[in-house]
Amino acid sequence: MHNACRLLSLFVLTAAFAWPQNDTLDSVERLLKELTEAHGPSGYEDPVRRIMRREFTPLADDIQTDGLGSLIARLDGSSETRVMMAAHMDEVGMLVRRIRPDGYLTFQTVGGWLGQALINQRYIIMTRNGPVRGITGLKTPHVTPQSERPHLHDRDRIFIDVGARDQRDAEERLGIRPGDPIAPDSPFMKLNDPKLYVGKAWDDRIGLAVEIEVLKRLRRLPPPNTVFAVATAQEEVGLRGAQTSSNIVKPDIGISIEVGVAADYPFITQDQAQERLGGGPGIFLHDSSMIPNVKFRDFVADLADSEDIPLQFEVLSGYGEDGAMMQRAHGGAPSINITVPTRYLHNHNGVLHRDDFDRAVDLVEHIIRHLDPATVEQLKSFD
Ligand code: CO
Repeated sequence: MHNACRLLSLFVLTAAFAWPQNDTLDSVERLLKELTEAHGPSGYEDPVRRIMRREFTPLADDIQTDGLGSLIARLDGSSETRVMMAAHMDEVGMLVRRIRPDGYLTFQTVGGWLGQALINQRYIIMTRNGPVRGITGLKTPHVTPQSERPHLHDRDRIFIDVGARDQRDAEERLGIRPGDPIAPDSPFMKLNDPKLYVGKAWDDRIGLAVEIEVLKRLRRLPPPNTVFAVATAQEEVGLRGAQTSSNIVKPDIGISIEVGVAADYPFITQDQAQERLGGGPGIFLHDSSMIPNVKFRDFVADLADSEDIPLQFEVLSGYGEDGAMMQRAHGGAPSINITVPTRYLHNHNGVLHRDDFDRAVDLVEHIIRHLDPATVEQLKSFD
């Protein structure tokens, strides 16, 4: 084949197999990719906090941290009514329990995992020498007896392979120590649709992105209140950073921003969860941590209606979110949980829809712009 022909056929082949939807990312997509790919299991949120500090700094009048590492950005508006937004930086992960003599690692899970979601996946161990790759090994079917095959995996029998020759190699060459955090490793991608985003840790990096975009808009035209945009630490292990940051902010009213539970895939029922991708942001009516303030809930539903923002209702039996801590802080504050519906939470590959993110930003912005002192007093009143 002539060289030019060879070049041409190479070009045609490349074009046919390229992934055009991944080639160019807009500025929001670049932020989402950076946020979702950052590693930050509960208690080790540094990489995420660095991104949030960089994004909040040009937008806020003041930035501080609480004693657990939650980042609190204040934006001054035209009154001292304190509106707190909260989204959490941490993701579910693990930490190294023990380096075995043979060089394999055992681990403690941090946050809620299904055992089978942990298996045969890629991870990053965050060592003092930097990131180290690891994979969770799974015995081949060739040696698995028929009777064992249908069984779910016991997470206590899952281990991480870091390619070490032995314990000393893992410690000295790779720098691994007991207690090192472990995060899922899963690059951002689009799911054959320019608006369907796949990644780990949408819970709750998408909430952080909502906070950033809302703060950008409020910076241009200040709200009738003082806004505290909080990136909380350690949500996945019991809303710990929301508790400590709420003690500092002392909110009059609280807006938690979270991932919703999409139920638009096979073998999940509408009585387990009700949201679907592309149907707009959600508002929780119940979860196991919080019953939202009824007046505030109706205020948001009416506002979404009048602003033509689609809104999905969600009633979950389980789940916990930062609103529960804002609700109980400083004598109590009306609180709600607004969500971006997401499939397959607490896994390496979650999926969400760009339109739901954009509408969630619209909704939260409108809510905050309508929270003037008189409205907040009315929402807080039980008389
Ligand atoms: Co969450």
